[in-house]
Amino acid sequence: MLLVTGATGSNGTEIVKRLAAQNVPVRAMVRNRDRASAIALSNVDIVEGDFDRPETLLSALMNVDRAFLLTNSTEHAEAQQLAFVDAAHQSGVKQIVKLSQFAADVHSPVRFLRYHAVVESAIQASGMAYTFLRPNLFMQGLLNFRSTIANQNAFYAAINDAKVSVVDVRDIADSAVAALTEAGHEGKIYNLTGPQPLTHAEMAEQLSVALDRQIEFTDIPPEAMHDQLLSIGMPDWQADGLLEDYAHYRRNEAAAVLSGVQEATGKEPCSFQAFARDYAKMFG
Ligand SMILES: NC(=O)c1ccc[n+]([C@@H]2O[C@H](COP(=O)([O-])OP(=O)(O)OC[C@H]3O[C@@H](n4cnc5c(N)ncnc54)[C@H](OP(=O)(O)O)[C@@H]3O)[C@@H](O)[C@H]2O)c1
Repeated sequence: MLLVTGATGSNGTEIVKRLAAQNVPVRAMVRNRDRASAIALSNVDIVEGDFDRPETLLSALMNVDRAFLLTNSTEHAEAQQLAFVDAAHQSGVKQIVKLSQFAADVHSPVRFLRYHAVVESAIQASGMAYTFLRPNLFMQGLLNFRSTIANQNAFYAAINDAKVSVVDVRDIADSAVAALTEAGHEGKIYNLTGPQPLTHAEMAEQLSVALDRQIEFTDIPPEAMHDQLLSIGMPDWQADGLLEDYAHYRRNEAAAVLSGVQEATGKEPCSFQAFARDYAKMFG
């Protein structure tokens, strides 16, 4: 049996749907069954589980051989993921496929990159087989800007003209499914990027084509981006973390195009142009 955590999120939903389409026995761990309608398919075993309640992890992990580990990035993420690694080890899980992040490093100035690296080390130390997926900034992350794109035909971020090799979540999901269902991905670290490094202004140009109207990108100071994130309800720790991420992008540390998608799946990663075309309706 495979277990997918974070199963109601952007990656988890895509992963569960792919596994169900291949008729692979899959259990999806969700906090609340009522919010899991997108993955409530006849061949998906939905189980309630909460990273903050370790006893629920043990029942979710019963008879599980391989598990996909993902939480959202909060100040609790490291502790939640370490608790899951412990529970998985106790339950006899053979392999963990962890959604990490491009440039994960215990010494990074970026808090998200540090916590991902700490969890990667704990999985390695546990003796369970592992596959680490280290995606760059998600193309679907642009959907966070959809309200200003819909209302002002504009979006704003503190990134200047730095390029980022953004990756499509659908490629991350394909990589996760390959690692969960095929032999040969054990001990691998896949750096998942898109096929092209792009500035946010270049993404705006491609979105303009897909949406058939002019979308502008404007660089803003980090303090203004921080205010913007708080105004949409993001907690302080997360907003500070996202600003650290953007400082890392601004230093051009996330522009490299790497071959992780090809190595994991055997196919070329999706272009931003294809993402913009396929998601155009969601930008309003
Ligand atoms: N955004 C990017 O560009 C980017 C780039 C690289 C790496 N990453 C990494 O990607 C991860 C986020 O992936 P995502 O965007 O797919 O996540 P997401 O859409 O935010 O989904 C998070 C999932 O975690 C679940 N969850 C949250 N707290 C939980 C708890 N206490 N117990 C059980 N489940 C819980 C949520 O369930 P509910 O439905 O119950 O809330 C949801 O299913 C983070 O680790 C981040 O560092 C992000």
